[in-house]
Amino acid sequence: MSHKPLTGVIVGAGHRSVRYAEYALEHPDKFKIVGVVEPREHRRKKALEIHGLDDSAGYTSVEELCAKGKLADTAINGTMDQLHIPTSIPLLETGYDILLEKPLAISEDEMMRLLSVMRKNKRTILICHVLRYAPFYHAIRRKILDGRLGTIMNIQTNEHVSYHHESSAFVRGKWNRQDVCGSGHLMAKCCHDLDLIMWMLSGNPPVAVGSFGSRMFFREDKAPKGSGTRCLLDCSIERECPYSAKKLYVENKLWGYYAWEDIEPYDDKSDEFRLEHLKKDSPFGRCVWRCDNNIVDHQSVLIRFADGATGTHNLVTGTARGLRSIHILGSKGDLYGVFDESRFEIRTPNPSAPDHYEREEFDLNVTGDFHGLDGGHGGGDMRLVADFVDLMSGGKPSISCTSLEDSIYGHLVGFRAEVARERNTVVPVSLETT
Ligand SMILES: NC(=O)c1ccc[n+]([C@@H]2O[C@H](COP(=O)([O-])OP(=O)(O)OC[C@H]3O[C@@H](n4cnc5c(N)ncnc54)[C@H](O)[C@@H]3O)[C@@H](O)[C@H]2O)c1
Repeated sequence: MSHKPLTGVIVGAGHRSVRYAEYALEHPDKFKIVGVVEPREHRRKKALEIHGLDDSAGYTSVEELCAKGKLADTAINGTMDQLHIPTSIPLLETGYDILLEKPLAISEDEMMRLLSVMRKNKRTILICHVLRYAPFYHAIRRKILDGRLGTIMNIQTNEHVSYHHESSAFVRGKWNRQDVCGSGHLMAKCCHDLDLIMWMLSGNPPVAVGSFGSRMFFREDKAPKGSGTRCLLDCSIERECPYSAKKLYVENKLWGYYAWEDIEPYDDKSDEFRLEHLKKDSPFGRCVWRCDNNIVDHQSVLIRFADGATGTHNLVTGTARGLRSIHILGSKGDLYGVFDESRFEIRTPNPSAPDHYEREEFDLNVTGDFHGLDGGHGGGDMRLVADFVDLMSGGKPSISCTSLEDSIYGHLVGFRAEVARERNTVVPVSLETT
C-alpha cells in the first residue's frame, strides 16, 4: 500500500532545521519539504535548492506563509530561542503541527501561552530533545522502565562544555547574552539535561529547586597578563592562548558555522581574508576575557521530587574535554555512564562477588546501525525526526516522544532554577503556580 509522504515547511533555514530536514532527502517516501521560511536570502535559496523547490516556495516570514493558508502538514521550527513563540503561534493558528527547537520558550509565561494556543487549536508540538533519542539515554531509560535500578533515590548529571565550544557559542557567540538571545546559559545548554532528569523520573514530579552559579572566569578582571582586546590585533600571548581565534577558527577549523556566519557563504573565503576579518571586525576575533557576555559560566541545580528523591545538575564550562555524564542511584543498584563514550555500567549489590557488588557493562555502538539512522547528538538528531514523522503519520508515540506537555517540567525547573539562583533561595515547582 503506498502512502503519500508527510509534508513540512522549514521555518528558519539555519543549522538545526536544515539538518532535521535532511530526513526528507533520505526518506522521500516518508517526508517531503514543500516550503522554506527564511528572511536571509542566501539561506532561503540554498534550502529551496537542496529540496528541489523554486523561489515561489520561499517566504520571508511566517506571516507571509500563513497568509496563504495551510500549505503543509507540519513545520520544522529552528528559529533562535527568542523567536520560538512569536513564530509558532501563527503556525498553530494556521493548523500546522510543529517540531520545535529547544528551549521551547524563554519564559514560563511564554511556555504556558504556547501550551494553551496548541490545545485550543488541537495541534501537536514535539520539542527537539534530541538526547532522549540518542541510543545511550534511550537504553538507560529502558533499564529504568525494566525496573533494573528499583526505586530511584538520586540522579546526578554533569555537563562540561569544552573551552573551544564555550568560547565560540557562549562567550563570543550568539548565546552570550540573555537580553539578546532570550536564554541564559542553563536553559540554552542544559534544558536537555533537566529534561533527561524529568524523563528518567517520569511520573514523579519535581516540587522544589535551588541553584547557585555565577560568571567566574570569562570576565575582564581574569584576563591573563599580556592579553589584548583582539587576538590578532594587540595580544602578546596569542600563540600560547588556547582561545586564540586563529588557532580555533582558521588552523583547527572549529565551530565554523558560528564563527563565519557574518561572512556567509564562506566556503570560498581564503585564510588571509578570514584572518583579516578576525583581526578587525569579527566578534569571534575578540579576547574571551573582554567580550560583552553576561551569562554564568558555571551553575549547579538541586531538585527535590514528590516522593523525596533528589537530583542535581552541574554545568561547568571552559573544560579541556566536553562531556555529559549521568549517575542514577536506586534501591536495587546504580547506573553510571558517560554519554560521549556511549558506555554505561550497572552495579548491583552481591555479597558473594569479589568486590561485594556486580558490574554489568553496556556499550552502545552509536556508529552502528540503529534503524538505519545515525548522526549528530550521539545519534539523536535523525531518530527524533523519524519519530516526529512517524507520529504525525499516525504512528504510536515512542518512549522518547517529547510532546510539549512532556517537556514542560524540565523547562519549568530550569526557569525556576534561575529564580532560585538570582534570589538565593529555594523555589517551589508546581504547574498550579504558573
Ligand atoms: N536540539 C539541540 O541540541 C540544539 C543544538 C543547537 C541549537 N539548538 C537550538 O536551535 C535553534 C536554532 O539554532 P541555530 O544555530 O540553527 O540558529 P540559526 O541562527 O543558524 O538559525 C535560525 C534561522 O532563523 C532565521 N530567522 C530569523 N528570524 C526569522 C523569522 N522571523 N522567521 C523565520 N526564520 C527566521 C535566521 O535567519 C536563521 O537562518 C536555537 O533555538 C538553538 O538554541 C538546539
